[in-house]
Amino acid sequence: MQQPYVADLAPEQMRDRLHEALSIYVRAMGYPASVARRRAPMWAEHALRPGWRAAAVLAPAAEEDHAALRGTLLGIAYGYTGASHQWWYEQVHRGLSRARGSTAAEQVLEDYFELTELHIHPSAQGQGLGDALLGQLLGGCPASRVLLSTPEVVGEANRAWRLYRRRGFEDVLRDFRFDGDPRAFAVLGRALPLTMTTA
Ligand SMILES: CC(C)(COP(=O)(O)OP(=O)(O)OC[C@H]1O[C@@H](n2cnc3c(N)ncnc32)[C@H](O)[C@@H]1OP(=O)(O)O)[C@@H](O)C(=O)NCCC(=O)NCCS
Repeated sequence: MQQPYVADLAPEQMRDRLHEALSIYVRAMGYPASVARRRAPMWAEHALRPGWRAAAVLAPAAEEDHAALRGTLLGIAYGYTGASHQWWYEQVHRGLSRARGSTAAEQVLEDYFELTELHIHPSAQGQGLGDALLGQLLGGCPASRVLLSTPEVVGEANRAWRLYRRRGFEDVLRDFRFDGDPRAFAVLGRALPLTMTTA
């Protein structure tokens, strides 16, 4: 087996590998397989949004697989340009307006890339692949900041939190509840560009 590598995914490549990408997502998040089927239309629609970009971690079977973007999918990440008519924007705007006032909310949400999904298959976690995938996705991203939401975890004690903190993500909103989800989330963000020179 060759070393896994990271690469950008074009919308049509995401479409071709949507099923595989969703199965990484449900395995990484510990969700039942049925969630993948329900999420498929949403992921496909997201790929049509302005500023959408995606990156993958692939495990090639042979050297030539690199050039052809072949190999088993081990990780997937995507996001798009945030905009005021989007559900996530509206939710975070509501939370930020309550916490800091609407002017501050609009400033934070003025020009951002929403990091929507970032997942590594459980069998491949803890080897630096999530970090490399994050760098690939955000490299060359034209927005002035990146925002994301992640479930609150006691002591910030999971790999997602450690990765985001290591890469300079700071609190935007804590203990926030999105409509229809009983879990508490944090919204984190950092300025772009993200430089990957330090570990
Ligand atoms: C969050 C997630 C994407 C991170 O990806 P990952 O590949 O597991 O994590 P990383 O490669 O960044 O780092 C994991 C560990 O590898 C270590 N590491 C980092 N770079 C490394 C490298 N080049 N070589 C070896 N190890 C490295 C880090 O020290 C880190 O250790 P830590 O977790 O104790 O801090 C992944 O764990 C995942 O999919 N989790 C479940 C789903 C999830 O939570 N997604 C995010 C939702 S918002």
